[in-house]
Amino acid sequence: MPANKTLLILPGDGIGPEAMGQVRRVVDWMDQRRAVSFDVSEDLVGGAALDVHGVPLADATMDKAHNADAVLLGAVGGPKWDGLPFEVKPERGLLRLRKEMQLYANLRPAICFEALVEASTLKPEVVSGLDIMIVRELTGGVYFGEPRGIETLPNGERRGINTQVYTTSEIRRVAAVAFELAKKRDKRVCSTEKANVMESGVLWREEVTKLHNESYPEVELSHMYADNCGMQLVRAPKQFDVIVTDNLFGDMLSDVAAMLTGSLGMLPSASLGDADETGRRKALYEPVHGSAPDIAGQGKANPIATLMSFAMCLRYSFDLGEDADLIEEAVKAVLASGIRTGDIMSPGCTLVSTEGMGDALLAELDKRAA
Ligand code: IPM
Ligand code: MG
Repeated sequence: MPANKTLLILPGDGIGPEAMGQVRRVVDWMDQRRAVSFDVSEDLVGGAALDVHGVPLADATMDKAHNADAVLLGAVGGPKWDGLPFEVKPERGLLRLRKEMQLYANLRPAICFEALVEASTLKPEVVSGLDIMIVRELTGGVYFGEPRGIETLPNGERRGINTQVYTTSEIRRVAAVAFELAKKRDKRVCSTEKANVMESGVLWREEVTKLHNESYPEVELSHMYADNCGMQLVRAPKQFDVIVTDNLFGDMLSDVAAMLTGSLGMLPSASLGDADETGRRKALYEPVHGSAPDIAGQGKANPIATLMSFAMCLRYSFDLGEDADLIEEAVKAVLASGIRTGDIMSPGCTLVSTEGMGDALLAELDKRAA
């Protein structure tokens, strides 16, 4: 029996708890049926934490996250907390986790399952067979740059300020992750910024190029302005293998890429820090989608993005590739059988609730592990 793996689950807000409820069933299933055991604890993040502790992430929860082998997060935010000051908004809880755990590399794979080719708003031939990886820088850029704030000018007008800032080492470490991933894939990296208007973009391009020349000659490197990249993603997404980009462009481009796969409800992500002496990386896994307050609490949420995030956790944090494969195969089989939540529904398919999707996934896992 491998040693217990500690997993901290933070369901969060909106559809987070519903989606996570189904993933929890799969975690328990793994625990019982596979050669791995998890030491699972749950805690609050986002609005849920705010309502109880007055902050979107309690210090005790932050400590637990530091000590866990991996953190699995649902979603944060919702209209209930929209009017709050910036420092206590639910989103700050998530940003604190990313920043304090130094999770600088956010891996957002966009894979189009054959069964969902019709669910994308794009033509089937454009998305069929799609398999790209967006590597988004996650602890720098305009999300964290100083100065920031809203100030009142002498003439009474107000001014909002954010700062886009990147250092050499911040660029190099995330680019290295992208190159390493590309080595195991199609060996192509497209680096994306706005070097035509931003100095931080010029530096980004120079540093990525330098690192490429020094250490990754076997990988093909190209550069693209971020606006063009957005356009190319909907025009001909299969031209890409790995895309590496900054925090803000990565946020936007990964939402664009999500739609190529049929729905935001399908996209998982892994946020990784540096490996320590033992090779262990701090890591947080979360779906790319948000808390979707419009459908929260109605059993309509698609739990697949959260479940696939757990599969990434098995693969990247626990080196349990076979177990991750098992989950991904189960997802494929369920989709192939025509079972759908509302976000990926197509004519002729069977519409199920969040829990119905969980039932179908567990039945498929049972079949495979029998
Ligand atoms: C994401 C989300 C977050 C972000 C929000 C919830 C803070 O959109 O993970 O893509 O902007 O990074
Ligand atoms: Mg986003």
